[in-house]
Amino acid sequence: MTDITTLEAELSAAVDAAPDAQALEALRVSALGKSGSISDLLKSLGGMSPDERREMGPKINGLRDLIQGKIAARKAALEAAELDAKLAAEQVDLSLPPPPRRKGGVHPTMQVMDEMIAVFAEMGFGVAEGPDIETDFNNFTALNFPPKHPAREMHDTFFLPEDPRGERKVLRTHTSPVQVRVMHRVNEQLPSWIANGQEPPIRVIVPGRTFRKDSDQTHTPMFHQIEGLVIDRGIHMGHLKWTLETFIAKFFETSNVTTRFRPHHFPFTEPSAEMDVRCDRSGGEVKIGQGDDWLEILGCGMVHPNVLRNCGLDPDVWQGFAFGAGVDRLGVLKYGMPDLRDMFASDVRWLEHYGFSAFAAPNPATGLS
Ligand code: PHE
Repeated sequence: MTDITTLEAELSAAVDAAPDAQALEALRVSALGKSGSISDLLKSLGGMSPDERREMGPKINGLRDLIQGKIAARKAALEAAELDAKLAAEQVDLSLPPPPRRKGGVHPTMQVMDEMIAVFAEMGFGVAEGPDIETDFNNFTALNFPPKHPAREMHDTFFLPEDPRGERKVLRTHTSPVQVRVMHRVNEQLPSWIANGQEPPIRVIVPGRTFRKDSDQTHTPMFHQIEGLVIDRGIHMGHLKWTLETFIAKFFETSNVTTRFRPHHFPFTEPSAEMDVRCDRSGGEVKIGQGDDWLEILGCGMVHPNVLRNCGLDPDVWQGFAFGAGVDRLGVLKYGMPDLRDMFASDVRWLEHYGFSAFAAPNPATGLS
């Protein structure tokens, strides 16, 4: 029989020397496992005489308790050392700057639209919207484009395939069909759910997407317009001129705006005009409000009596003016971008350069954010 004192010395030394949890576990099994050295001793108690057992029992059990306690203590010490090593290795340097994060931003078109809406909101205009896919009636017919008239071609329209009723819808070529949607109260040609227009007086702007088969430095097949419509009694060109000049001054944040109204033709306005703003093009940059040059900004005019009639309004009672401007183009002018097509090329470098913070300061022109 192994001498208990020797075994105690051997096991104690081995526990203290166990280099890691794995070695310690192997040691525990070899001593206290099923056929471990201490377990064997405990088993041998059964074959002893009562006197021997009385003497050896406490010694062997004492050895077991001692070694168990030593193993537990060693295990705790090893775990603590392991944690210390891990903590030392994983130290976080709080003085390091965080890795940069990519931030989203506001697209210049949306920023410019918001700026325009803010300016018109201050003048008492509401916002109306309509769908991108429009009926031929709203896009053309109700706006006084005669059937088969070349004016329809002038818009280079994207037509959708014929639907089961033989109707060809269009991708709206301008925001003017929303004039019809806003005014429309009585018309047998339209289902009643469309004929839900507003009662005059009407003062709305219509920001939205528009589409034409066109692509060059100043045209993209998809672009944005903002439409304006005012219907009331006794409205005349003077109201139109004041409204547009006030808008341009606030939008471009300049007080001296000189405008010029050139006669033009739109089927849905009479008289019709294009509005130019005095500008300076020297130095490769367009400056609004000064210089000897003119810049075409938008189309406008007095709402044609036929359009009023098509929308169920009596032209002898109601008059109005309308205008339509290219949002992207005004944005390009205000923020100096060289090519309109870049607006929709989804180049992240361009977007980061020309994009706006989502938390921009209030617009200085209006005080609104
Ligand atoms: N719809 C016209 C266009 O797209 C602009 C316009 C709107 C002109 C309203 C007059 C009145 O060119």
